Amino acid sequence: MDTAEIIKLSKRYIMNTYGKRSIALVKGKGMYVWDADGKKYLDFLAGIAVNALGHCHPEIVKAVKKQVSTLIHTSNLYHIKQQAELAELLIKHSFKGKCFFCNSGAEANEAAIKLARKSTEPDKFETITMTGSFHGRTMATITATDNARYRKGIEPLPGGFKRAVFNDIKSIKKCISDKTCAIMIEPVQGESGIHIAKKDFITELRKLCDSEKILLIFDEVQCGLGRTGKLFAYEHYNIEPDMITLAKSLGSGLPIGALIAKDKTSSGFGPGDHASTFGGNPLCCAAALTTLRIILRNNLSQHALKMGAHLKNKLEVLKKKYSFIREVRGIGLMIGVELDFECKEIVEKCQKAGLLTNCASGNVLRFLPPFIVSKKEIDKAVNILDKILGDCL
Ligand SMILES: Cc1ncc(COP(=O)(O)O)c(C=O)c1O
Repeated sequence: MDTAEIIKLSKRYIMNTYGKRSIALVKGKGMYVWDADGKKYLDFLAGIAVNALGHCHPEIVKAVKKQVSTLIHTSNLYHIKQQAELAELLIKHSFKGKCFFCNSGAEANEAAIKLARKSTEPDKFETITMTGSFHGRTMATITATDNARYRKGIEPLPGGFKRAVFNDIKSIKKCISDKTCAIMIEPVQGESGIHIAKKDFITELRKLCDSEKILLIFDEVQCGLGRTGKLFAYEHYNIEPDMITLAKSLGSGLPIGALIAKDKTSSGFGPGDHASTFGGNPLCCAAALTTLRIILRNNLSQHALKMGAHLKNKLEVLKKKYSFIREVRGIGLMIGVELDFECKEIVEKCQKAGLLTNCASGNVLRFLPPFIVSKKEIDKAVNILDKILGDCL
């Protein structure tokens, strides 16, 4: 099928929930993907922060092929070797605790919200989240998410959520009540256009959670597993959260999410309290285990930090050249370029020129390349962008 045929079929049978681009990607290798008409693209979006190792990394392909022909799915009624090994590796590199596996970021956050309620006193149920937050599309996680557009027309929403101002400890203090069980935060907000939590704010937040006996949940679904230059973004702050949620980069494209909780908190769940049919099945865990091993073995978080600095420097040069660039911000390979105007058209032009990126929060060009990106590919991407921005003058 060519692009036109795929689009026609997709429009006829797929629900219209995405503002889809006018291409269909059919093949990927490393930093590149190809569409159904054979056009090649440099991928600086990585399936929205999923393809951390690029496309079809040979070791992932090998591990998945091996697992798919050995055992794909059993059930969480039985012990799963790959799941236990993955949990061991995640815990070894975070803090003393336990994992729960699911299929997505939203599910990991749902699990965290439930566990916060379960593991604290029975009359505590409120979770405080931040302005600019994004936590997923299930009923609880859209309530936790700040963007009102996602909630329009589907009320009533579940209760037990309050919103505080990101990076404002006073605002958080105002939201705390005797019902508060958790505070959930993205250390680097992705969907709202790359906003980084300040060090002082997180230090104060940890202290506040300790003194008020509130659980601190870090949503690292987008920023976790090396993207910010550390395996976990919380490591930038010299604190430990009580729970971390992960997904995106974890499975190299196979659907897997994870909740990591400290031992004391994780004991709030007992048999029957939470479950997922597919969550953490042998196939997805084999992909995740291989992904994590490659990230650790090759110190890809350090590489992400270096390459991120190079990309940011190059984008800063563009900022000096184009007055309509308001700000370049980000950490590691999670970078936003805020423009004076909506960036949808720029994203489309980049795509036409063979560069995939996207637009967050209307006017922020977002770059989330795979961790394997090289300086050469960064220079190529920035050159394409430079030419396109030049046309805007
Ligand atoms: C920070 C954050 N949390 C949660 C989610 C939801 O993840 P999923 O789409 O896998 O449910 C996302 C997705 O973009 C995210 O960026």
